[in-house]
Amino acid sequence: LTERTPLIAGNWKMNLDHLQAIALVQKLAWGLADVRHDFSAAEVAVFPPFTDLRSVQTLLAADKLSLTLGAQDVSPHESGAYTGDISAAMLAKLDVTYALVGHSERRHGHGESDETVGRKARAAQAAGMVPMICVGETAEDLEQHGAAAIPVAQLTAALAHLPEGAEFVVAYEPVWAIGSGQAATPEQAQEVARALREHLRDLVGDERAARTRILYGGSVASQNIAGFMRQPDVDGALVGGASLKVDEFTRIIQFQK
Ligand code: G3P
Repeated sequence: LTERTPLIAGNWKMNLDHLQAIALVQKLAWGLADVRHDFSAAEVAVFPPFTDLRSVQTLLAADKLSLTLGAQDVSPHESGAYTGDISAAMLAKLDVTYALVGHSERRHGHGESDETVGRKARAAQAAGMVPMICVGETAEDLEQHGAAAIPVAQLTAALAHLPEGAEFVVAYEPVWAIGSGQAATPEQAQEVARALREHLRDLVGDERAARTRILYGGSVASQNIAGFMRQPDVDGALVGGASLKVDEFTRIIQFQK
């Protein structure tokens, strides 16, 4: 059996200025210091807005806090005349480990295509970061195609842009479950995670498929995390709203396999 380190990631979305970000990370670190020795096998990551990254990075480095840093998006371009974009190299320089690509709020809110998502994944990977590729079906997709077809197609499209051997994380986030308070059931999450992993076998080989972490996201809370973490193909969670509440996020982190 391949060991996959569980990953609990907090996507703050467009919340918290840099001072609030510092306060949250400090509180989170203090809370985790108490429980961490029991749960040292899990990795915890935070995805602050761009404007908070430098402050959070400085804090993590100064206090040697074992939280991983992620960015919520990345430009597909290397550098140059792309007003408003943030490059992968800029993020990597800030010790950012993960870059979210293809979050549904980018796909649907900003019209990002599979092609753009793939190019962003490639840009992140080329700069030494690990793309966290978000996939998920809308309620309509679910009705028309079932749960797995769209996520599998989105993952396939993104991976076409990555070179062989590239590391990546998959986040399965059904669009209908995001911010709705209506999470998928653990069985639904497992069904799609298993389909994604099965498909990964064809795309990147058995060994890499077995090693790749697949997270569930969409209304994750302390009341439902245990059910997701019990699923054999679910390796963690991408948490939105609940990651802004330190106590709640800490409780989520405490549930491990
Ligand atoms: O990326 C995390 C996310 O989209 C889920 O958000 O608020 O439903 O946990 P939320």
